[in-house]
Amino acid sequence: AGDPWAECFEAAVQLALRAGQIIRKALTEEKRVSTKTSAADLVTETDHLVEDLIISELRERFPSHRFIAEEAAASGAKCVLTPSPTWIIDPIDGTCNFVHRFPTVAVSIGFAVHQELEFGVIYHCTEERLYTGQRGRGAFCNGQRLQVSKETDLAKALVLTEIGPRRDPATLKLFLSNMERLLHARAHGVRVIGSSTLALCHLAAGAADAYYQFGLHCWDLAAATVIIREAGGIVMDTSGGPLDLMSCRVVAAGTPEMATLVAQALQTIHYGRDDEK
Ligand code: IPD
Repeated sequence: AGDPWAECFEAAVQLALRAGQIIRKALTEEKRVSTKTSAADLVTETDHLVEDLIISELRERFPSHRFIAEEAAASGAKCVLTPSPTWIIDPIDGTCNFVHRFPTVAVSIGFAVHQELEFGVIYHCTEERLYTGQRGRGAFCNGQRLQVSKETDLAKALVLTEIGPRRDPATLKLFLSNMERLLHARAHGVRVIGSSTLALCHLAAGAADAYYQFGLHCWDLAAATVIIREAGGIVMDTSGGPLDLMSCRVVAAGTPEMATLVAQALQTIHYGRDDEK
């Protein structure tokens, strides 16, 4: 069947590659760093430059489409997912890595229509790996089909998470105790790589068995969700219910059994919603 969003998907791929080139070059240069919601929530000129590039090109080609993007949201733009075709963009995911030249940095471009995610494109800028997923058409990394792990036993799992922006004692305590709970349940390991989107791509590729996080945003999740689902995986709410893209929390896994075990082990960290800020 014809894909009504093929042209949009191609545009996303081209822009992710172009943005990736800019980010790769900027990685080794001096940066001006500012903070947003906390001392650990960073932004640079390159985040703004890349976001402006992606949005201006897409707006020109698709003038009726809407946009949700990380730096626009930081400047007060509302995050509302309407039925209109909507681009959900993180210009640099792993900004803290980018600032420190830690080579785990991505561009993430998701696309939703009628509140349903249609495709996702995530570009690992330094390793030049392009992850893509299109609803009903599979997930790929540089043309190779992705397949999630089939592991159902938490005691045999490699679990990924991210810390999230807050560093207040109560949040840190909950974050560490969630990690402790998974280690008590005898997970093989818990990893924090500094980029939600790339951690989720590792899950899609079967290089880890589960992912969970509190405090991520819709632009960290949109593209990756399509990629994981198309690789055969599960993306859901930490309560065990269906995913809510705006809820700032997620559990993802290769199997429903694994996702449920991880969700049951977690205590909730309340971050509020993206669409209520
Ligand atoms: C952040 C990173 C970080 C995760 C945060 C994300 P950014 O994205 O993925 O690892 O803990 O939740 O918001 O700010 O670098 O685009």
